[in-house]
Amino acid sequence: MKITFITRDGEKVEAEASAGQDLLAVGQAAGMPLEGTCEGQMACSTCHVIVAREWFGKLPEAAEEEEDMLDLAADVQATSRLSCQIVLTDELDGMTVSIPSDSVDAQGF
Ligand code: FES
Repeated sequence: MKITFITRDGEKVEAEASAGQDLLAVGQAAGMPLEGTCEGQMACSTCHVIVAREWFGKLPEAAEEEEDMLDLAADVQATSRLSCQIVLTDELDGMTVSIPSDSVDAQGF
C-alpha cells in the first residue's frame, strides 16, 4: 500500500507501507522530519501530522490522551493526529498526510 506525505515545501513523497505499521515509522522511513521522541507513548507531539480531510474520517477516533497532546502541538488543525497512534490498515491505502509547518517538541514548553 502507499501513503503520500506532503512536505512543508508542498512536495509530494510517496512511501511504500504495509498494514500493521504505524504511520510514524512509515514517515520516518520516507525521510519525513518526524522525530517521534517518546516512541509512541503520547508524551510528545513531534510525530504530529495533518491528515487529508477525506481520509480523516476513516481513522479510528483519537484517544483523550492524544487530543491532550495535540493541544500542545504547533500548527494544529481540525484533522491533526499523532502519527504514532495511527496503525495502518488496507483501508488506508492511498492516504495523504501533511507535515505541519512547525513541529516544535511540546516538551520544550
Ligand atoms: Fe510521541 Fe507520537 S511519538 S506522541
